[in-house]
Formats: sequence, structure tokens, C-alpha cells
Amino acid sequence: MEFLKPLPPDQDPHTRRALLREALAYIQGFTGRIVVIKYGGAAMVQDEFKKTFSDDVTLLKSLGMRPVIVHGGGPEVSRVAKTHGLVPRFVDGLRVTDIEDLKISEMVLSGAVNKEIVSGLNTAGALAVGISGKDGRMIEAKKLEHTTHDLGYVGEIKRVNPDLILALLDKGYIPVISPIGSGDDHQTYNINADTAASHIAAALRAQKVIFLTDVKGIMMEKQVISQLSGSEAKGLIESGVIQGGMKPKVEGMLNALEAGVESAHIISGMDHHALISELFTNRGTGTMIIRD
Ligand SMILES: Nc1ncnc2c1ncn2[C@@H]1O[C@H](COP(=O)(O)OP(=O)(O)OP(=O)(O)O)[C@@H](O)[C@H]1O
Ligand SMILES: [Mg+2]
Repeated sequence: MEFLKPLPPDQDPHTRRALLREALAYIQGFTGRIVVIKYGGAAMVQDEFKKTFSDDVTLLKSLGMRPVIVHGGGPEVSRVAKTHGLVPRFVDGLRVTDIEDLKISEMVLSGAVNKEIVSGLNTAGALAVGISGKDGRMIEAKKLEHTTHDLGYVGEIKRVNPDLILALLDKGYIPVISPIGSGDDHQTYNINADTAASHIAAALRAQKVIFLTDVKGIMMEKQVISQLSGSEAKGLIESGVIQGGMKPKVEGMLNALEAGVESAHIISGMDHHALISELFTNRGTGTMIIRD
């Protein structure tokens, strides 16, 4: 025989029921909807967070959402480039890419990094398919003309053709996309992964685009901004509060929102299950940008 023992406050049945109801309401609204997740930063490097990522994305899939992963992999590209005697150079957060850097970027991003993410998701029980932005002519790119520097084979996106992604989603796969595009000239281009994620979200008319990164969200005066409008975000770029790797993320979020994506979020990939709390509870953990 066992008697009912008092439970700690977080296991109180009323609290648990309320949380469950809250989550169920969100789950209903998400069924069949596309969520583009940019996977970058420390979440991609540290083993303990890799497993959390795979488990969470697999859970979203089993709840009926249609996740699409777009990944970065800058640190791994730099590591391999160094073993080939190349010195990584950046201008405005963009990797200057000569022909040797380009070969390494494509090999690392569309090869090792892409397949590691696919393996992680498959191990967690999903069916993931790794493709690059070149496959099915998904990312059509052209050379990015920088005002002061020649960045080499860094591309900007002309158009995203979402047909291949939609075909994979329809068959129940999770597409995992590396940020490599091709030009009319058959030239390969290295694309910033944040830019790729936001253009893909726009082309898919995704419900959400979520950036997993190595900070909790947009920081200002040592605090995380939980919500801001598009015009406030533009102001923070102009004043220099948002800079470096955060700039292409926020610019991409603004473009995605303008193109009809319903919401855009930045969360930490180092908070266990931040993805789940952002999606299924009333209180998100990171930054959300809303349309003006
Ligand atoms: N206002 C800001 N708030 C938060 N982070 C900022 C801000 N301004 C600049 N940053 C920088 O942006 C970084 C996140 O972008 P970063 O490009 O380094 O990561 P990522 O895009 O997640 O990874 P990857 O580029 O490898 O895909 C933060 O670590 C921080 O240094
Ligand atoms: Mg980045």
C-alpha cells in the first residue's frame, strides 16, 4: 500500500494540467505547418546540445509539424581550411571566399556537417534527407558585390525554388539544407546561412522561422530583448547595437516577415529544449520580432 505524498510545486497536478492544456492548444495550431529552423552556433558544436536538437526536431515532426533545417558550420569550415594552410578572413561577418576556400566550404558544409545532422535526426527516429541549395536548383545565386571589398565566391540569393523541399515534406522527410547556391554561369556560391534560412522560409510561406544560436537572443545593455517591432530592430542595426553575426539574422527575419512568414524568433541552442518552450508555451525564452 502507498499513500499519496505531497508533490513539489512544479509537479502539482494543477500546474501540470495547465501546462499540458497550453501546449495542446499550440500543437493544434501547428499541425501541418512549416517551421524553418536555422541551426548554427554553439548548438552545432557541443555534443550535449546536438542530441537535444535532434530529439526536439524529431518531436516536432511526430506532433505533425513540418520542420525544415538550414544549417551553418562556419567554425568547422575554418578548422578544415586551417589544416589546408588557409587563413580565414571575414568582412562584415562574411567569409571572404577564394576558389580554395569555396572547395573547402562546399566539401565541409554539404558533406560532413550536413550528413552529421542527418545522422543525428535519423538516430532520434526521424527520416532526414540532406541536400544542398544546389539540388533541384533550389538556391539561385549571383556574386555579392560588396561596396569596398571583393569577397570572391560569396553569393547573394536571386531566387529560391521550393519545389524539392515541398516534395520531400510531402513524403514525410525532414529536409536538411546546406547554404550553397549556384549561379546561371554554373558557378558555385557560398551563402550566409541566416540569409539562406530566411529566403527559404519566405519561399515556403513558412509559419515560423527560428534561429538557434549561441546567445539567448538580441541583447541590449546586458539584457535579452524578448519582443521588438521591425522598425525597432532596424533602429538597433543603425545604432550598432545589432552587429556582426546578429546582423544577417535580423535582416533575414525582417525580410521573412515582409514576405508573409508569421513570426520570427532567435533562441539559444544552449538552453536545453528552448525550441520546445518557444513553440509550446506562452512564455518564449528568446527574442521575437513582430511586424510593425
Ligand atoms: N545585440 C546583439 N545581441 C546578441 N548578439 C549579438 C548582438 N550583436 C552582435 N551579436 C553577436 O552575434 C553572435 C551570433 O551570430 P554568429 O554568426 O556568431 O552565430 P550563428 O549564426 O548562430 O552561427 P554560424 O554563423 O556558425 O551559423 C553572438 O554570439 C554575438 O557575438
Ligand atoms: Mg552566423
